[in-house]
Amino acid sequence: MYHQETSVPVSRVPRLEDFVSKFGALLDGSPTEAEILGVGAALLKDLIAVDDWLPEPFTVADPAAYRQYLLHGDSHDRFSVVSFVWGPGQSTPIHNHTVWGLVGMLRGAEISQSYYLDERQRPVRGKRTQLLPGDIELISPSIGDIHSVHNAFDDQTSISIHVYGADIGSVRRQSFDEDGGVHNFVSGYSNDRLTDV
Ligand SMILES: [Fe+2]
Repeated sequence: MYHQETSVPVSRVPRLEDFVSKFGALLDGSPTEAEILGVGAALLKDLIAVDDWLPEPFTVADPAAYRQYLLHGDSHDRFSVVSFVWGPGQSTPIHNHTVWGLVGMLRGAEISQSYYLDERQRPVRGKRTQLLPGDIELISPSIGDIHSVHNAFDDQTSISIHVYGADIGSVRRQSFDEDGGVHNFVSGYSNDRLTDV
């Protein structure tokens, strides 16, 4: 597990530093979840409005599976900022988050298929959303936090920037099989190089 001191030094990425500062200030005001998602979405939309700031080490796809690089971990674990890098055709299992989250599309495109659980805890398909650069998706247990995600492209990498209401890499959560199987998991992060950006 990676901790605050091993995440990207945001001072080297001014656009990210500005975002983290404003997001921290938002949370300082003890907002409601609706306020976090509303104001936070505007802040994230501003962050991803241009695609020239994400350091190259945090854009690297892995041929084996999608990667999740910690960009910033709040010192009080109130929020974390992660770059998700999707190689061609890569996808997640059906999974939940247990906390609020914001997904902002930076590069390429992804498809988010939402689900709800029926009375036997089997996932049932809900809305399907395609995210293009600049688009934001909101996640929360209160509005729906179960989905699967896949790269919309079979021939190029896609990248989205995620903000979660916890140190998401250490959160115990669940993935779901179509037939009702439930599995606990803790995602961790993919970082294998950290501060040399
Ligand atoms: Fe997700």
